Amino acid sequence: MGCPRRLFAAAALWLVTSSQRARPRRDLGASSAATSGQRYKPQRVATYAGPRLGDTVNRSASPLPRPWSACERCGVVTTINPPSEAILRVGNASGWCLVVVGDRKTADGPYEALAAAAPATVAYLSAAAQETLPYGLASATPWDHFARKNLGYLYAIHAGAATIFDFDDDNVLLGAPPASAGAAARASDPRLAAPDAPDAGSAFFNAYAASFGAEKAWPRGLPLDAINGPAAAAAADDPRAADDVVVAQLLANHDPDVDAIYRLGPRAALPLPFDFPSSHGRGVVLDGGAVCPFNAQATLFDRAAFWALLLPASVHGRVADIWRGFVAQRVLRAAGLRLAFLPPGVTQLRNDHDALADYMSERPLYEKADAVVRVLDGVAPHRPGGSVARAVEDAYVALYEHGLVALDDVAYAQLWLADLYAVGLALPKLRRHKARTPGATTAAARAPSRPSPSSTAAATATPPARQ
Ligand SMILES: *[C@@H]1O[C@H](CO)[C@@H](O)[C@H](O)[C@H]1NC(C)=O
Ligand SMILES: *[C@@H]1O[C@H](CO)[C@@H](O)[C@H](O)[C@H]1NC(C)=O
Repeated sequence: MGCPRRLFAAAALWLVTSSQRARPRRDLGASSAATSGQRYKPQRVATYAGPRLGDTVNRSASPLPRPWSACERCGVVTTINPPSEAILRVGNASGWCLVVVGDRKTADGPYEALAAAAPATVAYLSAAAQETLPYGLASATPWDHFARKNLGYLYAIHAGAATIFDFDDDNVLLGAPPASAGAAARASDPRLAAPDAPDAGSAFFNAYAASFGAEKAWPRGLPLDAINGPAAAAAADDPRAADDVVVAQLLANHDPDVDAIYRLGPRAALPLPFDFPSSHGRGVVLDGGAVCPFNAQATLFDRAAFWALLLPASVHGRVADIWRGFVAQRVLRAAGLRLAFLPPGVTQLRNDHDALADYMSERPLYEKADAVVRVLDGVAPHRPGGSVARAVEDAYVALYEHGLVALDDVAYAQLWLADLYAVGLALPKLRRHKARTPGATTAAARAPSRPSPSSTAAATATPPARQ
């Protein structure tokens, strides 16, 4: 029964590893095509000529009235299953509210009962309730799709949340959820990972292997040829590593978020289930173009990063959170904000999946993750003081023009950004944030005793190492 799958997986892994052995990373040119095929290369296949954000946001409209008053901290989950332990844990977490987003398949009864029993802290958005939401995004969101979750994010933001715990119904919290991404990052005493050549564009960083001791593992969304690649960055001690963290991925124990190739691979070589070794208890913050895929299974977003929550709607759910994460990392970098990976905060008791079906839906990750990041690298740099909304829009336009998302996703991102404006969210401005001088400007502003960042030497000096 399991045999054909194993064979297939072994073959897939062999293909992956042997093609790496046979061929250096760069293309050898047309002459290699006959023997080795060709890498997917992003090409400009369309030019976006539709409306731009300035044309679609009505800046004189007053914010929509609040639908509900959420706690400062709010979990958001979408599910088609009955209330799970993961959902009830967040529902019961002290100081936390919970927004559950249903879909057409979700049985409303148990969730309506949950919300009725705790109306101050639990909101349930049934399919019917979603149709009456006053957001442009509501009618543009496909049914039976992970992107339904976007309506829950909007609802939580609209209701006044300051931190959102973006989680899945099968990721069970190990303890109380951290108060915010920033606080959780600080508490993890993180190291800082920045590539050696930050001007060379983004470089993939495998946080599982490089920072958390899972040497054989890699996160879903890491391009296949980065699995065995050299570490893009060495994580180093840095006293200001936790500065400006606004998104934080909690790792999952037991059944971590790995891709279908890992799941289909030989179990003797690739353990599953596994826990991250507890000896690797410090977080890691990514900077200067270090990129690691992150998911929508157990991730904290602080208000300065709420714009980054949007899940694209034209790709499969197993791809949507990863593409979202790459857009987020590109724009976070332009905004001088940062992403952290934190030690395990959840146990994943994974819902039933067909690994081969997952493999089919994950193919864009294996084949095009690198292309997505390169295309995003190519988006024209934005000036400090520029608009985060415009940077997000530009990112989706570039992905569309390279055939990596559908045209609908440009309009969808515009609706999202207009909705954020309509619910009264203030977006941060872009600002300069130099690699390897983490928080130089902001830290200097906070602590005037530090040397002025206006002197080049001070701005480029490596901050003193901890201890
Ligand atoms: C913008 O909002 C204002 C105030 O609600 C309204 O009067 C105006 O008609 C809106 N403009 C457009 C183009 O929708
Ligand atoms: C809290 O947990 C209990 C026990 O699991 C459950 O019955 C209840 O519905 C939960 N409440 C919320 C608001 O999640």
